[in-house]
Amino acid sequence: MTTLLKPKDLARLHAAAFRESRPWGTEEFEALLASKHCFCVGDSHGFAIGRLIAQESELLTIAVDPVSQGKGHGRLLLQHYHDEAQARGANTLFLEVAKDNTRALNLYKTMSYEVISVRAGYYKRTTGTPVDALIMQLKL
Ligand SMILES: CC(C)(COP(=O)(O)OP(=O)(O)OC[C@H]1O[C@@H](n2cnc3c(N)ncnc32)[C@H](O)[C@@H]1OP(=O)(O)O)[C@@H](O)C(=O)NCCC(=O)NCCS
Repeated sequence: MTTLLKPKDLARLHAAAFRESRPWGTEEFEALLASKHCFCVGDSHGFAIGRLIAQESELLTIAVDPVSQGKGHGRLLLQHYHDEAQARGANTLFLEVAKDNTRALNLYKTMSYEVISVRAGYYKRTTGTPVDALIMQLKL
């Protein structure tokens, strides 16, 4: 499963899913999709973008439309991302997640990712205290 989604569809889904963060614009998605290192999987419910360098793939973002969240789309999407990364030669996957993003964290833990590093106070919030970033790894 790769994607037929256009940069403007990705920007719309991203803005809807990440309501508390700066939305990525259409131009940013155009640039990512044009990169030979990046790949995208997804459908009308959501998408994931990875960047593969050598045998390591980083999950740059994953977003499911809010109306479709909690129905298994994210898990399926992550599995498609794994399959695509592996098909492209990855043997190790990395991602970064805010420590307070319970939904995403639960998804990654149940897909066997492990925390390998913490960036203390990495995410600056407009209100409240900064939140740690967890770096997670999965060996395929
Ligand atoms: C994170 C995200 C991609 C998950 O997609 P989703 O479609 O909502 O997730 P799923 O329905 O496939 O659920 C996958 C797992 O997430 C966890 N989860 C789902 N809903 C949850 C909730 N309300 N609270 C806590 N954990 C939850 C569960 O572990 C679930 O697995 P299970 O139902 O088998 O127990 C999606 O919620 C999203 O786009 N969030 C906003 C953007 C974001 O935070 N992206 C990740 C940045 S690192």
